[in-house]
Amino acid sequence: MSTPVMQEMSSAKLDVAWVREQFPSLKEQVAGAPAAFLDGPAGTQVPRQVMGAITNYLTHANANTYGMFATSRRTNEMILAARAAMADFFNCAAEEVVFGQNMTTITLGLARAIGRELKAVDEIVVTTLDHDANVGPWRALEEKGVVVRQADIREADCTLDLADLRSKINGRTKLVAVGYASNMVGTINPVSEITKMAHAAGALMFVDAVHYAPHGLIDVKAIDCDFLVCSPYKFFGPHMGTLYGKKEHLERFKPYKVRPATNVSPESWETGTQVHELIAGIGAAVDYIAELGRKCDARAQTRREALASAYAATVPYERALLTRLMDGLEALPGIRIFGITDRARFGERCATVSFRIGEHNPTEIATFLGQRGIFTWDGNFYALNLSERLGVEQKGGVLRVGLVHYNTAEEVDRLIAALKEFVAG
Ligand SMILES: Cc1ncc(COP(=O)(O)O)c(C=O)c1O
Repeated sequence: MSTPVMQEMSSAKLDVAWVREQFPSLKEQVAGAPAAFLDGPAGTQVPRQVMGAITNYLTHANANTYGMFATSRRTNEMILAARAAMADFFNCAAEEVVFGQNMTTITLGLARAIGRELKAVDEIVVTTLDHDANVGPWRALEEKGVVVRQADIREADCTLDLADLRSKINGRTKLVAVGYASNMVGTINPVSEITKMAHAAGALMFVDAVHYAPHGLIDVKAIDCDFLVCSPYKFFGPHMGTLYGKKEHLERFKPYKVRPATNVSPESWETGTQVHELIAGIGAAVDYIAELGRKCDARAQTRREALASAYAATVPYERALLTRLMDGLEALPGIRIFGITDRARFGERCATVSFRIGEHNPTEIATFLGQRGIFTWDGNFYALNLSERLGVEQKGGVLRVGLVHYNTAEEVDRLIAALKEFVAG
């Protein structure tokens, strides 16, 4: 949706039992305990619909594109269908969807292509809140003399300092690169407002929606951004990346490519042979979310409406889990939670929570939890600027717990009980 805050929408209750049945891996056990997948921000689990689509492609359509035979034609059709699914996911036209290896590779390629047109006086704005995949590719253009400015955060709640961001955008700014949501502290940025700032200065707006995608409905038309990237493996799909680019930009900028490859976008942006079986899985991931949406609200007619219904059910569900998690964490002695903790402001964040406990190294805590079948992440998760800014980079970073719609209140309670045990030593 267009606003920075995930809107409260009237929604049917999420059928979590049905959801969990779709994900075979949720039945995994560790040392006799059920696995609790609280590691979603680094990659979510995959429903059987996605596994089935990958197997089906390899069984019935495995070929390269544009051949004069059945499996090749099926491959072309499958790619068109997956592009249409991602177009519904982004709310754009199918020819504005590009597939790629992952967000980092896509962004490095796009930055190089945009960089071809930049001069030494030009400027780019990045932020302290972002994953390095939305910093490093732009900083690489410093080699050409491009000036990269970095907007700071407000440390108290780990939100972007919008006044600082505004002060860094000027007539020389050519691009503003901002994340939709932080993969470390969960903050959701007001990307529509920032897009207006960028456009007012004549700059392009690039949004990294990798972390936001499993938590809220994306609407590139409402945001009016020029580019937006996300990675299907973070929203129940396979390990790949996807890019939305406004048609005019995909046609105007020139990707680096080999001579026989097409000059026609979006395919001109898809370097070499794609991982077709995983593209089949991307289409199925979008269809899984839509299927969930139809279960939540049978009135949803189009796939886009069904996607909106799904998020209308998962957003309040995740919010309730987040509140339960925050209540449990705040009761732990010696805890320092990074980011928004004010319940009234939970609309400005998603259910990804990072914290430290006393002087314990986060790896120690993640190991303790992992032995009990509770999967969490420790470190900086490549949000290097933020980890340094918060003064935790030299101390092992933070422990990160990420909740998505297949997680449960019982899993949150198990985590809190295990953390209590850890603290009690
Ligand atoms: C916010 C954010 N941006 C970018 C990335 C990089 O994505 P990919 O692994 O697809 O390159 C990640 C991965 O964790 C992320 O969380």
